Amino acid sequence: MQITTTVNGTEVTREVEPRVLLVHHLRDDLRLTGTHWGCDTSNCGTCVVLLDGEPVKSCTVLAVMTDGHEVTTVEGLADGATLDPVQQGFMAEHGLQCGFCTPGMLLTARALLDREPHPDEQQIREAISGQICRCTGYATIVRSIQWAADHPADQPADQPADQPAAQPAEAQA
Ligand code: FES
Ligand code: FES
Repeated sequence: MQITTTVNGTEVTREVEPRVLLVHHLRDDLRLTGTHWGCDTSNCGTCVVLLDGEPVKSCTVLAVMTDGHEVTTVEGLADGATLDPVQQGFMAEHGLQCGFCTPGMLLTARALLDREPHPDEQQIREAISGQICRCTGYATIVRSIQWAADHPADQPADQPADQPAAQPAEAQA
């Protein structure tokens, strides 16, 4: 069936099979491979994206369920060349090693800070409790999110010059 979804601010219309999961639609159809596919059993949380601003595990959502809705992936977090504070926080506080869990962590952190700009440690740990990191442990991830809470968007940190494409493949053509 045909669906139209706003992905990272751009309307995208595609034919998708009703059985296709959102994680596969994003990665395979739209080439937004920043959304990682880990366990496929709803355990790891690396596939988290925002659906109308709420974090969802995209391996538990059918692509057709996003018809008429807004999806934000990790590629849509930065504002042009300016990283989101949560991205800056993970850089500043070394919140990642291999980076496999990071897209989901970043989007969960963004959703948390959108509803609670000043979370305490317990609120942060509860927010990321559905996600698994096999590398860093959670202390640096918690500090990264606290850093973001302490540094709103008007305080940019040093950033890499090259930023990933924020738009689906269709919009880049
Ligand atoms: S791939 Fe979705 S929770 Fe692991
Ligand atoms: S940084 Fe490697 S799994 Fe989290």
